[in-house]
Amino acid sequence: MSQPNNQNTPGNESGELSTLAATALSRGIRHLFADDAERFAGFSARLGDLVLDYSKTAIDARARSALLDLARTRGIEARRDAMFAGERINATEDRSVLHVALRGEPKDGYRADGEPISGAIEDVLRAMGAFAERIRNGEVRGAHDGAITDVVNIGIGGSDLGPAMATLALAPYHDGPRIHFVSNVDGSHIADTLKNLDPATTLIIVASKTFTTIETMTNADTARRWLVAALGEAAVAEQFAAVSTALDKVASFGIAEDRVFGFWDWVGGRYSIWSAIGLPLMIAIGAQRFREFLAGARDVDQHFKTAPLGENLPVLLGLVGYWHRAICRYPTRAIIPYDQRLARFPAYLQQLDMESNGKRVGLDGQPVAVSGPVVWGEPGTNGQHAFFQLLHQGTDVVPVEFLVGARSHEPSDMQTHQDLLLANCLAQSEALMRGRTLDEAREQLVATGRSEAEAERIAPHRVFPGERPSLTILYRQLDPATLGRLIALYEHRVFVEAQLYGINAFDQWGVELGKELAMKLVPVVTGDEEVGDRDGSTSGLIAAIRTMRGF
Ligand code: F6P
Repeated sequence: MSQPNNQNTPGNESGELSTLAATALSRGIRHLFADDAERFAGFSARLGDLVLDYSKTAIDARARSALLDLARTRGIEARRDAMFAGERINATEDRSVLHVALRGEPKDGYRADGEPISGAIEDVLRAMGAFAERIRNGEVRGAHDGAITDVVNIGIGGSDLGPAMATLALAPYHDGPRIHFVSNVDGSHIADTLKNLDPATTLIIVASKTFTTIETMTNADTARRWLVAALGEAAVAEQFAAVSTALDKVASFGIAEDRVFGFWDWVGGRYSIWSAIGLPLMIAIGAQRFREFLAGARDVDQHFKTAPLGENLPVLLGLVGYWHRAICRYPTRAIIPYDQRLARFPAYLQQLDMESNGKRVGLDGQPVAVSGPVVWGEPGTNGQHAFFQLLHQGTDVVPVEFLVGARSHEPSDMQTHQDLLLANCLAQSEALMRGRTLDEAREQLVATGRSEAEAERIAPHRVFPGERPSLTILYRQLDPATLGRLIALYEHRVFVEAQLYGINAFDQWGVELGKELAMKLVPVVTGDEEVGDRDGSTSGLIAAIRTMRGF
């Protein structure tokens, strides 16, 4: 498909940056370290204990300076200020973007439509806090007067991924009831979850910004039937809670008014972990720890607002991302946390990044040359024994983002685990950059007793090209504030990249078509409607499904 080849088109950098990239890529990364003993100091940035090391990329001082110029040209600072000021920068939905206000302090003075919002935010936080504490201390009783032992959060997308990821991440701080997450409309998800729970001591939270999402409403109805079958209709008011912006719809579901926690249309679903959507996390770790989580995010907001662009972590992270995607044209990026409790962080970032920046037209409605990359990943060290083969020797370059904590929460007699984890993380970025030459491979083989002929034959398979870029985000320990900082760092990175691509990061029209078609296909799947004028593949599959289902 042809795209406009205009140098000023965001994402289409045929000018200075492309030339710099060609030079940088042919020179490689290893040379940069050989030429500059202080490269780490010059190409890393810090915010307290959070370290962003982007020195193992091909970006040199000239490329960075050109990237920073581009950021200024694309109006990053003005757009950032507009977001923090509550302007309606989500132009296609005509909404402000104020998730930052959810972690603000009253003195930050956030306003939506000119009205101060910190009071309303604090009211919801207090109500959530009081409810969470009453569950945690056993004051909220189930139908048989037992304390709540289990909480099931029913939501999907932003109403699931954030609290699910964060609850796992902060497991060492989890001193409340057990928390379960149900998202998939596949009935196995809720069936497998509920089958081990006691209806009398289970609280169900229905989390949905719109309260119309079919997966969530279907799961909520199933949970309601499960509860009512065991305890009667009255249990709905006692053992359901809801989080939504659609308070009228929640009321018609039968959820008691004092169990409903609201938020606002200026909070996007994938940016909503800081809102009442965070209720399951708060129930798990308590209101105080939840506030620490918010405060960590606020640190990054303050930094993003005030730090010079060249020292600004989200800006630098965004520029590195843009460099790899739009200038070097690498189609994906891998997120590899060397932290098992961040196992859901790649999935969380998939929504944050791909739902925000996977857009084919810019703010002006015109096609963009390039949008965000495919984001994927799994924790290390597991990934090393699965897909790292391709990262090291495959034909595509995949920039890797490593995340690792210097310290773990485990007792000192398990220190070896953390030592090995850290060593592996560092070794992988080193190996990606350094590689192994043909001569080195031959020498190694001969040194281990292989004949010259055998060494010659096998050596090419043992060559690592190296020069593969990565960045490392190092933190002290994965505590609530650190998790808040990491998420906010990535949120603002997505924002920075969106400005560079020239797209609106805050709508998600791309999810609509599939939803519409699914609803039209339900009566066809059930056999209530004929297949009709559908494509041959869909018709063929429906016929096969009907046969397998016996109608
Ligand atoms: O389908 C996409 C989406 O709208 C996400 O943006 C959102 O996080 C998710 O669905 C869930 O939406 P809701 O919270 O309204 O149920």
